[in-house]
Amino acid sequence: MASGKAFAHHHILGMEQFSREDISHILATADSFKEISTRSIKKVPTLRGHTVINLFFEPSTRTRLSFEVAAKRMSADTFNISPTTSSTTKGETLADTARNISAMHPDIIIIRHPCSGAPLLLTRYVQAAVINAGDGAHEHPSQGLLDLMTVKEHRTTLSGLKVAIVGDIAHSRVARSNITGFTRMGSAVYVYGPATLIPKGIDQLGATLCGSLEEAVRDADVVMTLRIQRERQNDPLLPSLREYARQFSISQRILELARPDAIVMHPGPVNRGVELPPEVADGPQSVILDQVTNGVAVRMALLYLVMGTA
Ligand code: CP
Repeated sequence: MASGKAFAHHHILGMEQFSREDISHILATADSFKEISTRSIKKVPTLRGHTVINLFFEPSTRTRLSFEVAAKRMSADTFNISPTTSSTTKGETLADTARNISAMHPDIIIIRHPCSGAPLLLTRYVQAAVINAGDGAHEHPSQGLLDLMTVKEHRTTLSGLKVAIVGDIAHSRVARSNITGFTRMGSAVYVYGPATLIPKGIDQLGATLCGSLEEAVRDADVVMTLRIQRERQNDPLLPSLREYARQFSISQRILELARPDAIVMHPGPVNRGVELPPEVADGPQSVILDQVTNGVAVRMALLYLVMGTA
């Protein structure tokens, strides 16, 4: 099992906080934990006696469940709070919710929130380690890390790769975490999507904006597609999903422009027939379920590493 001693981050708020060495250390730790999930008894005592609270203010299948699976596989006690079952429905502020949760002495709080910066706000009111499970359109660091782990497994290295990210870049916390993560590890990131869904200053994040889908995908090692996040759009920014699919979907014909051994990724949830046709989503180049498997290993690593800083 990798050592937690070299890790200095008590809170995980974004990929932005990590150096290249931090990312390598997290991925090596996740690698060492991955095998636990293949055992017949999928449990180690590493976090026995520790309390992990999942505080999710937005829907989630993969992230919430895999943090819970990760914590349970490490013998932590886990608890879930959702907006419908919390007193935020009665007008309690996030700060007051945080103060009250903190009074029960949890060790780790995992938060997903529609507002960018909510995890940072939480750190001001709690002693526990805070892990950002997605905040608005800001960051989704554990998704970025599991994506890096998945690419490294398929490509051995993260250096010198062409990574194409296609879709709703403007509203995507996954895009932000991945642009930072991949460029920090030496990959070149190319983005493409509807003009209304490309944020200003994307080049300052380190990505290159392409003029066509073909340009983005040609010779790519990794083709990552993103969901249209209608829930974050105040006004409609697209004529229709059918129109989007016609222009931006990664069809088999488009995928053939990438390297023959290119991998297709999607953070989920996939809108079949919109970002990807079923034959590509389920095809031999798709690693979408590998991403989900690696999500558990990465989250085990994060729980372990932040507890090493307590
Ligand atoms: N990738 C991701 O964040 O999926 P969920 O919204 O299901 O957690």
